[in-house]
Amino acid sequence: MQIDVLTLFPAMFEGPLSDSMMGAARLRGLLDFQAHDIRNAAEDAHRSVDDTPYGGGGGMILRVDVLTRALETLQPAEAPVILLTPQGRTFSHQIASELATHDRLILVCGHYEGVDERFRHYVSDEISIGDYVLTGGELAAMVVIDAVVRLQPGLLGAEHAATQDSFATGLLEGPHYTRPREFRGESVPDVLLSGHHAEIERWRRKQALRRTWERRPELLKTAPLSEEDARLLGEFAREWSLLRLAGER
Ligand code: ADE
Repeated sequence: MQIDVLTLFPAMFEGPLSDSMMGAARLRGLLDFQAHDIRNAAEDAHRSVDDTPYGGGGGMILRVDVLTRALETLQPAEAPVILLTPQGRTFSHQIASELATHDRLILVCGHYEGVDERFRHYVSDEISIGDYVLTGGELAAMVVIDAVVRLQPGLLGAEHAATQDSFATGLLEGPHYTRPREFRGESVPDVLLSGHHAEIERWRRKQALRRTWERRPELLKTAPLSEEDARLLGEFAREWSLLRLAGER
């Protein structure tokens, strides 16, 4: 997959896109990543990329002529052009999966107060990573890249298929344990040491359901659930009402 980013701060991407899984994805040819400096598209002596807003008010606005020139150095390309902005649709596992199906993505990082409204005609999608305002779109672009690239077939080992992720199953993941078997008096649940695969799977499903029920109950409205899942949820609900009656919740 090829990902091009238009940014005023290409150096911000160096560490996150060179280390860990993103670094491995690049080494293994699963990710062809380039950050392009928007400033290279500036034409005046001061290489200016932004200006004050018409109508007054604070902040600086990225210029539409500079941004489109920067974009057009990458085009024509059959690729979605995605603007990172707090006004975009909220990023999710579903959007990451949808973006992962493309061979190429172009991400544009806004900065300062935002971009000239006329630039919106040149983008095909706008994405926000959450209801808070960052100083620029760079960190948001890195979040999107990480979530999309880790879904590329062959990046995660077979044992950690992305299909088992929280959100891919519609549920939060349950607890995990590794050595030591006992730590400060707390042991690993017996079932995980039993070697009984079917029982371990049942236990894991139950834990995922319980965690989702406790922390993100709204996910249960859309998660695909079996009859056994529904029965387990009924059990949690009964347990919970009993605890409430006993004044423990
Ligand atoms: N730029 C500034 N804040 C942002 C956010 N929350 N998501 C995406 N881009 C942004």
